[in-house]
Amino acid sequence: MISETQIKLYYKNVKANVIGTEHGITDEQLKTLAEKTSPLIAQLNAERKAGKTPYRNLPFSTKIAQQVKELTAELKDRCENLVVLGIGGSALGNIALQTALNPYMHNLDKAQRQGPRLFVFDNIDPPQLTSFLDWVSDKLDRTIFNVISKSGQTAETASQFMIIRQLLAEKLGPEGLRNQVVATTDPREGALRKIAADANLRCLEVPQGVGGRFSVLSAVGLFSAAMCEVDIDSLLKGARDMNATVSCEDFYRNPAAINAAINYHFYNQGKKISVMMPYSYALQGLADWYRQLWAESLGKAKDLTGSEVHIGPTPIKALGATDQHSQLQLYREGPNDKLFTFLQVNNFDKDLRIGPAPDSATELDFLAGKNLGTLLNNEKKATEYALLQSKRPCLTVLFDRVNAYAVGQFIYLFEVTTSFAGALFGINAYDQPAVELAKEATFALMGKTGHYKSDLTYEQFAQKIQAQTKIDGDFLV
Ligand code: PA5
Repeated sequence: MISETQIKLYYKNVKANVIGTEHGITDEQLKTLAEKTSPLIAQLNAERKAGKTPYRNLPFSTKIAQQVKELTAELKDRCENLVVLGIGGSALGNIALQTALNPYMHNLDKAQRQGPRLFVFDNIDPPQLTSFLDWVSDKLDRTIFNVISKSGQTAETASQFMIIRQLLAEKLGPEGLRNQVVATTDPREGALRKIAADANLRCLEVPQGVGGRFSVLSAVGLFSAAMCEVDIDSLLKGARDMNATVSCEDFYRNPAAINAAINYHFYNQGKKISVMMPYSYALQGLADWYRQLWAESLGKAKDLTGSEVHIGPTPIKALGATDQHSQLQLYREGPNDKLFTFLQVNNFDKDLRIGPAPDSATELDFLAGKNLGTLLNNEKKATEYALLQSKRPCLTVLFDRVNAYAVGQFIYLFEVTTSFAGALFGINAYDQPAVELAKEATFALMGKTGHYKSDLTYEQFAQKIQAQTKIDGDFLV
């Protein structure tokens, strides 16, 4: 029986009566934010109903969940290792779900896992992939490769896939590709869709109109999760229940609207950095996922009217208690330019009691017999207190416990918060035009031919890039 306790956003510690009027939000300012944000709640609800934000319908799709479950049932028995090949929105959600919902030793300890080992390759680092391939090459018939790419032609994912494809053919013969690969991609377009059709691969879909960073609750994130025994029904139910909460037209009862409004306020007050700091190892993948969601959605050169704005809060991930010992000095005494969002877990499913202090160190007696979870949560309180003493605004997302339901809630809460923030900043939160140039430049440098633009071939483009990026010896010291 899963706990269906709702996650909550706690915002008292951003208020002026806690950290002072210079840095905190006054009642008057909150009222102004409510007036500005309230109409956006109705607007976002209307956009959702009109099908303009398809990511919001993902938790309601029985078709997607069914397809994922059927494929999982088909492949599970012969899969000891599941390998996800993807990058950005095609990988970060998978890592986040696995980190949050399976034990730390999942891959190493058979007793701690029910499904396959999971490896997510979201980079093209040669030594890393070589080491993995050396390990997996005699286990290929028990390994499933889930290649995920919405566009189907991202250079990193395509190269990984082409290496694996060759390896499978060499080791397992012509049937290797068909038996061991699942392609998750656009239902109609792109190179991966063509490859999949040609090789008759098993396929899942990245739904149309859903950008990578909003796709974790589609087959993109659900398949690896289901294969690794994550309860995807609870995950989706958590998201559905959060949909009701974030659709509420009362600003003060809508955590996504308040969260976005507070972030928007502090950005405009010069706090342009947004630090997410989970006090839970399990939640750190979600902070990484949020980093992409926030950065790619809100970092924009132009607003919706086409004016140049160069806007966007910079998201940072920190981990409690680890980063108290690497970042806290800066966070307290450096510039007061950050808004902190802690993630706090009230009940850890597993906890440890600290043993007795040795006779030679009775000064450690105060720790003896206490739970490690109590220490971690007290460290969160202590850090928050220290930051408040330095007049730094702090939000907390409270988890009763970390389970699939709560994680589904968190994902949906932050996706919709991002939509609200986009609307407040007056920008398009769903595109990423600035990412394209580097992608195309990579294609050019790797020898793509033909026209990049009507007046520029890829060869000419490559020459321009080389001229600007070649190492100039005059500046080497
Ligand atoms: O959120 C996004 O749109 C990006 O991070 C993409 O997910 C990433 O660039 C990978 O793209 P694709 O899935 O097309 O390979």
